[in-house]
Amino acid sequence: MRIAMIGTGYVGLVSGVCFSDFGHDVICVDKDPNKITMLESGEVPIYEPGLDALMVKNVEAGRLSFTGDLSAAVAGADAVFIAVGTPTRRGDGHADLTYVMAAAEEIAQAMTGYCVVVTKSTVPVGTNRRVKQVIAKANPEAQFDVASNPEFLREGAAIDDFMRPDRVVVGVQNDAAAEVMAEVYRPLFLRDFPIVTTDLESAEMIKYAANAFLATKITFINEIAALCEKVGANVKEVSKGIGMDGRIGNKFLHAGPGYGGSCFPKDTSALARIGQEHAVPMQITETVIKVNEAVKRRMIDKIMDTCDGNVNGKTIAVLGCTFKPNTDDMRDAPSLTIVPALVGGGAKVRVVDPQGRKEGEALLPGVNWMDDAYKAVQNAHAVIVMTEWNEFRALDLKRVANRMETPRMIDLRNVYSPKDAKRAGFEVYAGVGL
Ligand SMILES: NC(=O)c1ccc[n+]([C@@H]2O[C@H](COP(=O)([O-])OP(=O)(O)OC[C@H]3O[C@@H](n4cnc5c(N)ncnc54)[C@H](O)[C@@H]3O)[C@@H](O)[C@H]2O)c1
Repeated sequence: MRIAMIGTGYVGLVSGVCFSDFGHDVICVDKDPNKITMLESGEVPIYEPGLDALMVKNVEAGRLSFTGDLSAAVAGADAVFIAVGTPTRRGDGHADLTYVMAAAEEIAQAMTGYCVVVTKSTVPVGTNRRVKQVIAKANPEAQFDVASNPEFLREGAAIDDFMRPDRVVVGVQNDAAAEVMAEVYRPLFLRDFPIVTTDLESAEMIKYAANAFLATKITFINEIAALCEKVGANVKEVSKGIGMDGRIGNKFLHAGPGYGGSCFPKDTSALARIGQEHAVPMQITETVIKVNEAVKRRMIDKIMDTCDGNVNGKTIAVLGCTFKPNTDDMRDAPSLTIVPALVGGGAKVRVVDPQGRKEGEALLPGVNWMDDAYKAVQNAHAVIVMTEWNEFRALDLKRVANRMETPRMIDLRNVYSPKDAKRAGFEVYAGVGL
């Protein structure tokens, strides 16, 4: 198969590299010339474990290339994937489809023979039909079908998720498109990974329903965590106890500072908007959005309490700023709410993150970036575990406590136990739901 991948972000680049590893001929396109220059010189513009080696391997095998020229990539392709961003539209919370529709128009002009235009971006129900109309209008001669193929990979584990998915979802309108999609995913099909083939609308809805459900699960345990703190229960024990129930499952039950990242906030917001537009309010999702905001604010209160109600003039070390470990993605990270509140309160904030600095510098003004946790805690009045990178999971707590002015820890990821922290010399340890 010849595949054109439009957009080389977290989803497009991983998908393009993995498709080439399946044996397909893949050309990845991006309109950002800096990304293309980097990719052509063998550099990966994002941090995703394992991606650079797999990319180089497939470039060397002659199956993978990069270009800024969309027309050249689309001409002769069997499948053209749209993997551009669908951020929240300013003002109304809806998914912004500008990039998707612009890509569709460009693809329409560049098609040379029958191909399937596949939307991998997360898009509201009805978008694939709109993509079809846009292409047909821009190029009435075009021979094509559309397909919806939402992506479920997680940043930080993206390659494994793509290569060994729980399922692949494909929405189509006819057999011709289904056959092309079966060919694209043949290596997974042969290894018995389930492929759910359905209609366009159901495929589009599956993605929003999945993300809203996961956001709900996280928010549920965060709310339970708040109650645990008041009644003397331990949310880690509660998560374990309910997660062992096969009907509930143990994933996405870790209490923390609220969900963030490039998907859950924007996708819950878009689903709420879709519901409002169809007069079917998504009341659970709307509540989840509100509770998640409250969770982030509760974290600020927790930090303030730990610092005797006032952070003015205090030095605070923040370990981690990305929305989760093993990514450099800062989009909607809880740190973007929490850190500015501390800076605004007059704290001297030091931030350490193995990969977040490049993105974080512009987003977190007024902080002091450091490259080592032990240096960051020197003479600090409090340390916050914001993101559970491996290197922050196994700190020598005694060494940390000894270096601090006042050894106080706010562990927003429940990485350490109150007992260990106290034993190491921390005078205050505050977790979430403990
Ligand atoms: N990031 C994730 O973990 C994840 C997971 C599942 C689904 N998704 C969905 O996948 C989509 C892409 O997300 P992302 O995180 O990869 O986005 P991203 O912002 O990292 O990347 C999008 C890329 O598309 C490029 N682009 C935009 N318009 C273009 C055009 N007309 N031609 C060529 N390139 C163009 C941009 O320059 C950018 O490099 C979104 O809809 C998102 O919701 C993301």
